[in-house]
Amino acid sequence: SLGLYPDFMAKEIEQQPDVAERLITTWSGSILHGLWPSFSLPVPRHVTVVGCGTSLNAGRVVADLLARLGSIPFAAVEASELTSTATVPGSLALVLSQSGETADVLTALDVLHGRGHAVVALTNNPHSALARRAEAVMMCHAGPEIGVAATKTFVAQVLGGTCVVLSLLGCSGAVEQQRAQRLVRDLDRVPDALAQAIGASRRTIPQVLEGLTKASGYVFLGRGPGRIYADEGALKLKELTYRWAESHAAGELKHGPLALVEHGTPVIVVDDGSARMHATIAEVSARGAEITSIGGHGTSVPALGSPLAVALDTTVDWLGPLASVVALQIIARELAVALGRDVDKPRNLAKSVTVE
Ligand code: F6R
Repeated sequence: SLGLYPDFMAKEIEQQPDVAERLITTWSGSILHGLWPSFSLPVPRHVTVVGCGTSLNAGRVVADLLARLGSIPFAAVEASELTSTATVPGSLALVLSQSGETADVLTALDVLHGRGHAVVALTNNPHSALARRAEAVMMCHAGPEIGVAATKTFVAQVLGGTCVVLSLLGCSGAVEQQRAQRLVRDLDRVPDALAQAIGASRRTIPQVLEGLTKASGYVFLGRGPGRIYADEGALKLKELTYRWAESHAAGELKHGPLALVEHGTPVIVVDDGSARMHATIAEVSARGAEITSIGGHGTSVPALGSPLAVALDTTVDWLGPLASVVALQIIARELAVALGRDVDKPRNLAKSVTVE
């Protein structure tokens, strides 16, 4: 039930610290003891990440981590594109789906099996067709998600996937066991970081809301792993508000999209505090953009006029800006509520997409 929450999305956003805590407690023990229980697959030389929408974004975060920590290359493919996309022979397939019933994902699963790929599934539904048919399953333990927009399952997929990554790297010796254990222990700080992000977003986002409602389009920017979060923020905003949102790697702005930016254009930055991000913010700010910086502890913000910052604790650096997704979800939801949208049931969308 909703309890005191105005909608399921609000409730599911607030549940994220608890979901993270449950997932980390469930999996980190077995990883710390050196072995992934039912995971007897060889360490892959390449990984193919497959999913749709938010699940694909979670998969991109996980694969990026595998590449950064373990130097294992990857390709991320939309499930609907897999048939016409060549895959690397012998690549391990990591298939993510909250529902485990998405038609595009199940078709992709057949294609992957047909090409001889072993499949590790990351899903929130243990009884799903995906869970039944994959070679190994990582459960997300997020509890039922009612809001059509995925929120807590994204966090659960990222953390579940992170546990898979640490387990693979620890078992294989690609990351020295002691270091893998330190990384697992770092995860204990994630629930607090997510709770802090909820508090900071609640305090700060109402201040930008009025400016945001007046705009008709939005630009999201990020760098490195932050780029994936920018994509996720733009996706959430589109589906909930029915307004246009673009997401770009910050450095790509000057190669075209900068032409969109004019006085008052909202630019939402997943801010890594780098000098390069600082330069991008200065560039859009000089054109009168309304900047909201998410991250906010870095060097970019204080130096420039008064862009608004949702200041997040930067506790687990190697994991990337996971807590920023909370601020991005809250921006999309608050804006949608201000515009009178039904945030739990956005038009034209379904929770489980069972047609191709
Ligand atoms: C966005 C959203 C969708 C789903 C996508 C895949 O908020 O919910 O993009 O992520 O339809 O669904 P699953 O994960 O069930 O395969």
